Amino acid sequence: MYLPSSRRRFLRNFTLGAAGLWVPGAFAEALTLTPKQTEGPFYPINLPLDTDNDLIRLNDSLTPALGEVTHLSGKVTDVQGNPIRNALVEIWQVDHNGVYLHKDSGNAEKRDSNFQGFGRFMTGSSGEYYFRTIKPVRYPGRTPHIHFAVKMKGRDKWTTQCYIKGEPQNETDGVIQGIKDEIQRTSVIVDFAPLPGVTTGELAARFDIVMGFTPAA
Ligand SMILES: [Fe+2]
Repeated sequence: MYLPSSRRRFLRNFTLGAAGLWVPGAFAEALTLTPKQTEGPFYPINLPLDTDNDLIRLNDSLTPALGEVTHLSGKVTDVQGNPIRNALVEIWQVDHNGVYLHKDSGNAEKRDSNFQGFGRFMTGSSGEYYFRTIKPVRYPGRTPHIHFAVKMKGRDKWTTQCYIKGEPQNETDGVIQGIKDEIQRTSVIVDFAPLPGVTTGELAARFDIVMGFTPAA
């Protein structure tokens, strides 16, 4: 059904208002800016041959990576929730043995050669990204985490990290605790929860990224 835009706006406002959710101006400050965090030393020097968003299978390999399969998704937006498209989201993390795809990684000889270690996803108009990866494990000196970089044309590379809710080491991790704002610090610690309706033990995690600029219309 066609509705003139003023009518559509009225309906939306009416619906949200009736549910007690809509307050004029509230959306403008509703989202917490995702804190920028260090890139760290383990961004791959040589990218893997496969850089897609499925980290548990390299190219057409029949053998998947070991670890707890995790469906990691989220949305890249500005503080008002407007989706940011054409953002290249990159992740890199350790395999199930705590080893990076990097020559300087500890325990390099134990690296799972079936784990891609790095992946990329370009956001579309919804701002959403998606990766299939594994739940990160701890390695000496750090609580488990996944590194993120967001690259956009004409902007500096921006990096952050996300963490697993309930990990005791979060309390003492130097990078997390370096985020001084409590709300921002909490915003990068997310649930890795069993995927509903699935009995294979797969997990889902959602990490939204809120950037401090407004996308061009
Ligand atoms: Fe790291």
